[in-house]
Amino acid sequence: MSAKIDQMKKIRDEVLILKTSPLYTYRTENKYFPVIGEGSHDAQIMFVGEAPGRNEAKTGKPFCGAAGKILDELLASAGINRPDVYVTNIVKDRPPENRDPTPGEIESYGPFLDRQIEIIKPRVIATLGRYAMVYVMKKFGLDFDIEPIGQAHGKAYDAKASYGDIKIVALYHPCAAIYDRSKLPMLMKDIQVLKGIAR
Ligand code: URA
Repeated sequence: MSAKIDQMKKIRDEVLILKTSPLYTYRTENKYFPVIGEGSHDAQIMFVGEAPGRNEAKTGKPFCGAAGKILDELLASAGINRPDVYVTNIVKDRPPENRDPTPGEIESYGPFLDRQIEIIKPRVIATLGRYAMVYVMKKFGLDFDIEPIGQAHGKAYDAKASYGDIKIVALYHPCAAIYDRSKLPMLMKDIQVLKGIAR
């Protein structure tokens, strides 16, 4: 078995028994799954969302509900095949009622995302929404470049990872277009930045 698969499995096993997580009891009481991530372990582009919703927690798959449908439309509009990219979240368990993740939850799960970045070594990290943008930009020392998502969306920031130069692309969360389809053209315009990057 490939080393990358082993390392990802180890992350899944650790998250499964993460009793220190503020979301552990909620997950087990509801018979939910943690959502580790899905896609190519050799992806050039890694998408990072916020936290799983109900559909995701029921299936263990990221972005498989309404937000996932929008993400699929966005990827298709940029000619990106979903299996070629890797899709994950900062927080690996569903927060109750889909509320925003707390700083404690981000602190609990952030190190798993950090490890996933080191395993996949993406050239581009596309953040979905402001929580992912802030986490990833801070992680790469871009604290001073952080702008409100209304200004940052569609921009690509240069960053240095342990394995080389990368770009961080800030995107709106696909949820933005669930209730307001008029936002879809703007999300589609932003994602074109990624065109031609995925294999
Ligand atoms: N929203 C997210 O941020 N992630 C998912 O996996 C689903 C919805």
